[in-house]
Amino acid sequence: MVVHYIRNSNFEGEKMENKIKKIALLTGGGDCSGLNAVIRAVVRTAILKYNYEVIGYVGGYFGLFRDEYVPMTLSSVSGIFHQGGTMLKMSSRDNLFNYRTVDEQGNVIHIDVSDIAIANLKKHGVDALIIIGGDGTLTSARDFARKGVNVVGIPKTIDNDVPATDITFGYRTALDHIMLSLDALHTTAYSHDRVMILEVMGRQAGWLALEGGMAGSADVILIPEIPYDIKKVAKQIIDRYNRGSRFSIICVSEGAKPIDGEQTIKRIDKTSTDPIRLGGVGEQIAKTLEELIQPITGQDIRSTNLGYIQRGGVTNTFDRVLGTKYGAFAVDMIANGNFGQMVTIKSDKMNKVYIEDVVGKGLTGETSSGGARRVNPKGDLVTAARNIGISFGD
Ligand code: F6P
Repeated sequence: MVVHYIRNSNFEGEKMENKIKKIALLTGGGDCSGLNAVIRAVVRTAILKYNYEVIGYVGGYFGLFRDEYVPMTLSSVSGIFHQGGTMLKMSSRDNLFNYRTVDEQGNVIHIDVSDIAIANLKKHGVDALIIIGGDGTLTSARDFARKGVNVVGIPKTIDNDVPATDITFGYRTALDHIMLSLDALHTTAYSHDRVMILEVMGRQAGWLALEGGMAGSADVILIPEIPYDIKKVAKQIIDRYNRGSRFSIICVSEGAKPIDGEQTIKRIDKTSTDPIRLGGVGEQIAKTLEELIQPITGQDIRSTNLGYIQRGGVTNTFDRVLGTKYGAFAVDMIANGNFGQMVTIKSDKMNKVYIEDVVGKGLTGETSSGGARRVNPKGDLVTAARNIGISFGD
């Protein structure tokens, strides 16, 4: 019998006996490839190794609040392994600690409905809850742990920006989409002597643009961690042209910003736990660059926003295996009573960290802002890219 203490919770120091019979899981935030691999691994480990009963809440925290769930069996996770998305659906809208609703007069109000969610867990005899999500979802996971719920977190995002873990599932599949898109842009850029810009996601972290751009042989990579000077970007393209390379490829992160300007905001989603949506920087760069370059080289510039394609599709080898490792380890953590903690992977070893210590902190020692794990502008990846002549526009 395992006895554990919940750290950093209202129940600090209280002894609990770990007699797990039933667990639940939910997926929160934006989707990515590998979620189904995690769900499958959780369900298979829970049933085959521990004989736990498993239920899955549908639609993330909203499902937990509304008590919408499905029983999870070996057959319900059969055939989902390779598929992107999540069979349990998800939402980035629902913070149950600050839940957006309307009062009787029709005014928008925010209320704490977390006790309803906890009552639902109790009603079904759920002993532990696995929460799979990015930092918004994990922040609520921390808050549920503080209220005494036996929570285990699994980090998820294509952005690869969760602190304390080297890699999140979904990231590598997204990189494959970026690489293949850049390969495709190369042929059309070459045929028309054009400059092609590919805008990719990543929020405040430039990992997707950096590694995707390197794999896809971009000539310029623009990331939020290294503000760019558009004149230096233009110089790189003109220098290439003068050396005989009449096309150029730019891979830009949605969060990239000029040295003298701001990030490009596409919209503010007031209903979301993370309201700012970035987007449009590729088109902006295309306009400004054209004015600087066309009079000299005559090149046309076209911008493509890869958008949600990078979040979907068939899950690649790496993410299938990583998702399996994350999911299986999370259930072992439940069995060992490692609650209030999140699965991590460091130097290829599975480990765990208190969610309290991760959310909003940027633990890795990398440049961090808003808790995100960001690219180190002086790190090995950026250095390798610079060594082979890739410009960061700085
Ligand atoms: O965090 C994952 C991500 O895909 C970001 O890269 C992107 O900025 C954001 O989500 C888009 O969010 P939404 O799905 O709400 O449009």
